[in-house]
Amino acid sequence: MTNREIIVLNNLEELSRQAAAKFVELTQANGKNGYSFNVALSGGSTPKSLYQLLADENEDFRRAVDWRKVNFFWGDERCVPPNSDESNYRMVHEHLLKPLDISPSNIHRFKSELDAETAATEYENLLRLIFNTHHGLTPRFDVIFLGMGADGHTASLFPESVALDETEKLVAAPFVEKFLKFRLTLTPPIINNAANVIFQVAGADKADVLREVLEGAHDPRRLPAQIVNPRDGKVFWFLDEAAAAQLSINRKYENFTGRLRR
Ligand code: 6PG
Repeated sequence: MTNREIIVLNNLEELSRQAAAKFVELTQANGKNGYSFNVALSGGSTPKSLYQLLADENEDFRRAVDWRKVNFFWGDERCVPPNSDESNYRMVHEHLLKPLDISPSNIHRFKSELDAETAATEYENLLRLIFNTHHGLTPRFDVIFLGMGADGHTASLFPESVALDETEKLVAAPFVEKFLKFRLTLTPPIINNAANVIFQVAGADKADVLREVLEGAHDPRRLPAQIVNPRDGKVFWFLDEAAAAQLSINRKYENFTGRLRR
């Protein structure tokens, strides 16, 4: 995969800082065209420190982005109300959107309080409306942030999920056996139409599966993170040392700052 860049950092703090710098770089590269910047955010715990860094008044990141031009979406969501402790929307709102005082007109959350299928259809219609893509064209995100679970899932694309086979819909509402609950998720077609995908993966519990995903046999039904391969886009893997410990490439990196040893 030639469109892939793997950056290994010492710890989550440095990982988040580098991912924030990449996000700012991409907004600035894109912003010269003057139009809005569309980003889909990931949930879970890893990205919290990135969101806090971007919103931090004491950091340069906040001042480096024209937040009025950024439209915020989600890559996936749990089927819970937006004020639930489990809500990805709530986590992002708390750590990023509220501190940045983002206008509600720039925030496009899943209506996760609705039944799963209705919420998925509603979000698909919203995406097509905002990206102005009638049926047949696929919206193209400027950036999609993703995480990866210790089972190799990404967004809410879990192993053996029917959503992995989706070729038309932009949004799916798969039942996840692992949680005995429905989830809402962007599908492979829209993820793989992104200009940039930024993975953030940290922690020793991810090391074994990360080696399989990045260096093992191609088996996206078992390792859904492998399905991410934008046709005309780049994939950045921001990893901490613990998650990257099993990677063969890792032994070539100096001080885990992503510089290959010559
Ligand atoms: C979610 C996320 C999910 C997450 C991974 C990694 O809704 O939980 O979208 O895909 O990115 O499970 O989660 P951690 O960052 O908490 O390990």
